[in-house]
Amino acid sequence: MTSDQLVAAPQTALPTLRGAVAGLPSYVPGRRGAGADIAALASNESHYDPLPAATAAVAEAAGRMNRYPDMAAVELRERLARHLGVTAEEVAVGPGSVGVLQQIITGLCDAGDEVVFAWRSFEAYPILVELAGARPVRVPLDDAEGHDLDAMAAAVTVRTKVILLCTPNNPTGVPISHERLEAFLQTVPSSVLVVIDEAYVEYADAGPDSLALYRRYPNVCILRTFSKAYGLAGLRVGYAVAAPAIAEGLRRTALPFGVSALAQKAAIASLDAGEEMEARVSLVKQERARMAAELAAQGWTLQPSQGNFLWIRADEQRLATLVDAFNAAGIMVRAYQGDGIRITVADPASNNRVLRLLEAHAA
Ligand SMILES: Cc1ncc(COP(=O)(O)O)c(C=O)c1O
Repeated sequence: MTSDQLVAAPQTALPTLRGAVAGLPSYVPGRRGAGADIAALASNESHYDPLPAATAAVAEAAGRMNRYPDMAAVELRERLARHLGVTAEEVAVGPGSVGVLQQIITGLCDAGDEVVFAWRSFEAYPILVELAGARPVRVPLDDAEGHDLDAMAAAVTVRTKVILLCTPNNPTGVPISHERLEAFLQTVPSSVLVVIDEAYVEYADAGPDSLALYRRYPNVCILRTFSKAYGLAGLRVGYAVAAPAIAEGLRRTALPFGVSALAQKAAIASLDAGEEMEARVSLVKQERARMAAELAAQGWTLQPSQGNFLWIRADEQRLATLVDAFNAAGIMVRAYQGDGIRITVADPASNNRVLRLLEAHAA
């Protein structure tokens, strides 16, 4: 018997979670937007039904659910490669871009390695980093609610493996300019992977040409999703574009068969229906502009958002008042303690409800 073997197993102790898991916030289920009076504006989903071609592709593929999907997602990766002007070797897909991000972090970070990101940004960043045993390094946003790239460059150490940049930033909607991002990339060691999370890129009129930057800087990785503008949030499919060796590593760290055949087919059909998606996006952008103008006229101070959402900074007291008002009105929005509130831009009727509510609470 070796010293590692238990002589007599204690019969009362339960298995324990890792510290990184025990420290994570519990998932709090939100009110679902099923009732006719509930406006679901908390998750930046598309308020449109899926594109008809995607629904048809899913219906067609549904009869083969007894089979595993193509684990390498070859057809989807080839279609994406054609769409983006890269090769399929440079594309890795996963169950949502958050799934791909988990592959990125677990694929690159050992325990104690650092991942630098702006804060406030996408809530999943610190969770995925801590789960991997790596260290989140949060760099506060600048006064204009955008990434402070100088401070982020200064936060890079020998332990930094990954930098996460979110453009336009969730939840503030502020993009990173191409010139500033390129200047930043020139200062970052080429051994650090710089992930450009573009979950909302289809809604953005401003921001970097990430593919051009990727071609120039092989340590850039682009992260995109079908969950937002393409309206496939419930099917879970996102992707990364990265140097072939990195993309290959991401494919190796993927959960086997993580992207269903339904998701793969729907994503291909959605890419084929790109013009229809763009027409929808342009209506959301019109609504975004209308809401921003009306809120400014009401006296709210907003940064121009390049996402399908608006961001209202609010101190603790104001936030509590607004949260109560939105709850009472049956409008689900996302509140961030101490920071503000994020509201998804949706159909004109829901947007009007938001505008009337905020009018009643304008300073
Ligand atoms: C910035 C950002 N990145 C990634 C995601 C993840 O999206 P998904 O996993 O559905 O692709 C989201 C979703 O809200 C997001 O806001």
